[in-house]
Amino acid sequence: MADSKSFERTLVTSALPYANGHIHLGHIAGAYLPADVYVRFKRLRGERVLYVGGSDEHGVPITLTALKEGIDPQEVVDRYHTANADSFARLGISYDIYGRTSWPLHVDTTQTFFKTLDAGGYIHQESMELWYSEQSERFLPDRYVKGVCPKCGYEDANADECENCGAQYTPRDLVSPRAAIPGDSSTPVLRDSRHWFLDLPKFTDRLRTWLESHPEWRANVRGIAKGWIDDLKSRCITRDTDWGVPIPVDDPGAAGKRIYVWFDAPIGYVTNTRQWGIDAGKGEDAWLPWWKDAGTRLIHFIGKDNVPFHAVIFPAMLMGQGDYILADNVPGNEYLNIFNRQTGKSEKGSKSRGNMISVRWALDQFPADVWRYYLCANAPESKDADFDWDDFMHRYNGELCDVVGNFIHRSLTMTVKNFDGAVPPQGPLDADDEALLAAIPAQVDAIAESIEEFRFRQACERFIDLGRKANVYFDTKQPWVTRKTDMERTGTTLHLCCQVVHALCRTMAPFLPEGAAKLADILNIALPQGGPDGGEDGWNAAKVSLPAGHALNAPAVLFPKIDPDRIAELAELHQQGGAN
Ligand code: 2FM
Ligand code: ZN
Repeated sequence: MADSKSFERTLVTSALPYANGHIHLGHIAGAYLPADVYVRFKRLRGERVLYVGGSDEHGVPITLTALKEGIDPQEVVDRYHTANADSFARLGISYDIYGRTSWPLHVDTTQTFFKTLDAGGYIHQESMELWYSEQSERFLPDRYVKGVCPKCGYEDANADECENCGAQYTPRDLVSPRAAIPGDSSTPVLRDSRHWFLDLPKFTDRLRTWLESHPEWRANVRGIAKGWIDDLKSRCITRDTDWGVPIPVDDPGAAGKRIYVWFDAPIGYVTNTRQWGIDAGKGEDAWLPWWKDAGTRLIHFIGKDNVPFHAVIFPAMLMGQGDYILADNVPGNEYLNIFNRQTGKSEKGSKSRGNMISVRWALDQFPADVWRYYLCANAPESKDADFDWDDFMHRYNGELCDVVGNFIHRSLTMTVKNFDGAVPPQGPLDADDEALLAAIPAQVDAIAESIEEFRFRQACERFIDLGRKANVYFDTKQPWVTRKTDMERTGTTLHLCCQVVHALCRTMAPFLPEGAAKLADILNIALPQGGPDGGEDGWNAAKVSLPAGHALNAPAVLFPKIDPDRIAELAELHQQGGAN
């Protein structure tokens, strides 16, 4: 496995969500929260890290929404780009830039990629049969045509793939095709159209060697990538549409055609890095080392459905540029499903079922840390997970509030009250004290190891575990009893408790940034911000004791409990489709 210390900098990307709807908790659990925890951890460690995200603003779903609403696609993407950027910010997803693939700069980056691949002999043209509506006088790409799946009989299959059974076929095989655009459900005809194709088979050997050099990747990601690499075919990278990046060729055949959204979307990571450098006043070339220096570790956080694009197609596109680095890891998550209380079954989140929980709605109910805790503790890392309201409440109340929050609160309240608002002196240590003191660095390192290995569920468990150990210690030492007879002993107990609280503050920072900021204020310490230029190590500082006499501020409850009646109400509302 690549050791992060052998890299000079880390570039982290999260999949660019389509600006065609509000982001929901399934998205967050898949590609955003894990990335944010990872990035915040690296920043706190003082490592140089850049976190790039943004909206994916091309593609057929967006033009279909625009057609349905009778507005320009730009209006659609403006609406959802702004809304989603706001949801991410409220949830504490701390992008260094949240860019847009409708930016003019993105045309330049995408066309450069295309031209370099073309010059390298990796792009060719083919004529293909596509469905054409004589009524609308246009070709019908992707979801603009619907029909019956030739494999499973599903009635809403797309032009060349079926969402129901996953089958891929040629448009000619679609049974009973019909146009699927507002005002046009006519029967289309097949017509020839010339398109541009990326010659993926030319990358087979290089892709295989690269994948084999990463045995440490998650099994699900490796499996999907290997399946694709074993059976690579040329892929059409243009579409009959006027919404997208223009094809940079001097050819009348390109009229009415644009580059396919899945070609330009991942290039958005590069565009947004370029824009970040410009916005940060670092100059037009500031992005170059982040994409071209072998000292950069590139990590793509994605959901499972995006694996082929990030672990096969985009890497091939990068190989074809000649001088780009490739991803060092692609942590792809499984899905967060929704547990339906009425049926007692888990179901996929879907727009048509109306069972998704949007981030904007979620944050109107509870603060960001509440959601962040549950989605991290219940992350769909190696298998699908369920969102279930009771589980959500029990885990937050029972783990974060009862274990960590309670320990912090009782430690700080007793300390401030009995020791003049400052960390008490440490007297002679017994075996319990020694064991607790040894547990702090061990647990801090264990949590760091979990995060480095993209095991965020385990990192959460280890964090809670430190709170559990500390509670056992507190209960054993009974400072509320010793306070009446032995202030030196009580001081030692609470001195050690303050050290654990200090470690909890720093180790919670990547997961629970609001709680960590409040606790840092109470503890009267500064948590370094870090960023692309690096900084001081505020993570390992958790192993350095707060000195006796260090002044503390008045404690406050960090994680208030959730009321079961409120959960019952929200679950009901959700069941009725009201959580969007
Ligand atoms: O699945 C999606 O939501 C896509 N918009 C993800 C694109 S990721 C990257 F390539 F930009
Ligand atoms: Zn099918």
